[in-house]
Amino acid sequence: MDNPRLLEFENLIREMEASIAHLAIPDIFPWIMYLLPGSLTGRIFHLDLQKKTIHKFLNYFNGVRVFITLPQKEIEEHRATLDRDDPRDLIDGYLMMMEEKADDPNNTFSEKDLAILVLDLFLAGSETTTNTLTWLFYYLATYPEVQQKMQAEIDEVLPKGTLATLDNKLRMPYTEAVIHETLRKSSLAATGAQHVATRDTQLGGYYIPKGTIVMGAQETVHHDLRYWDRPDKFLPERWLDQQGKFTTKKEGFLPFGVGKRSCLGEALARMELFIFSTTVFQSLTFSQPPGKRIDLRYEPKVIFTHNPKIQDVLITVRPGF
Ligand code: HEM
Repeated sequence: MDNPRLLEFENLIREMEASIAHLAIPDIFPWIMYLLPGSLTGRIFHLDLQKKTIHKFLNYFNGVRVFITLPQKEIEEHRATLDRDDPRDLIDGYLMMMEEKADDPNNTFSEKDLAILVLDLFLAGSETTTNTLTWLFYYLATYPEVQQKMQAEIDEVLPKGTLATLDNKLRMPYTEAVIHETLRKSSLAATGAQHVATRDTQLGGYYIPKGTIVMGAQETVHHDLRYWDRPDKFLPERWLDQQGKFTTKKEGFLPFGVGKRSCLGEALARMELFIFSTTVFQSLTFSQPPGKRIDLRYEPKVIFTHNPKIQDVLITVRPGF
């Protein structure tokens, strides 16, 4: 974390999130932009700030043109070493599709699209998982009894110093319960992504005309009394049956959205949350700093996602590590 370029990138992502937050109102009510003069909407919704942040972000890669050519360099390297019988990653797969579709007049594959796709995945995939893990750390620092139970399970299943694999999941129901309760309680992507109705339709008794922007209300669903007993409480036990087995709830739980456009990275995110949290709590204990309480309220500056506030946490090495 001492790497200045990494820190700069981290700050830029936070600035971008904060500037995007101002766009929440016109995103939900786009007609506002037509009612008010441009100079006013620009000021009210901080459009200048957003433009500035995007510019700064692109400059991070040494200028807008280089932003496109930097991933292109990566693409060139991939193309030069591509083994069609053994594609290594998304870039290899995309390049093969590009070749396959080269003669198709409706082809939409391009190097620019690939560069932006890689950036998109990086943005969608880094802050979401990082913030969810931060929530998990805050909850466990606040509820030491939950942390002790999770650590007891880790100690039982993973001999000291052994890293977890996905095969261990079945034997670690309490850890799974903690991860699911973190996803529910934090409701990080509180409204999911915006979608647009592509045709007039009916949903749940409501008429939704073509062009309507539709957003989820994930946080409300995650706190709905019809699905959850004492929804405001952080209770991993709600995910366990009487034998202590993990039970996946389907209804009332949609941290990754639903349907065709649900989170592309769900499997990766679930894997990261499991491997990272078991590794961390195997050797470390998180607690509230002396004389302070962890603030579990959302960061108010960010509107679209429920980010945790930046604050101190006391971390101690577990005996024997
Ligand atoms: C705990 C971590 C994560 C959470 C809570 C999360 C949540 C979400 C949600 C709620 C959506 C919108 C779904 C909808 O509107 O119905 C979404 C979309 C998306 N997520 Fe994630 N996500 C996480 C991690 C990741 C990771 C690791 C990646 C990729 C590496 C990723 C890539 C994407 C992409 C590409 C979309 C857009 C999908 C589309 O529009 O078709 N996410 N995510």
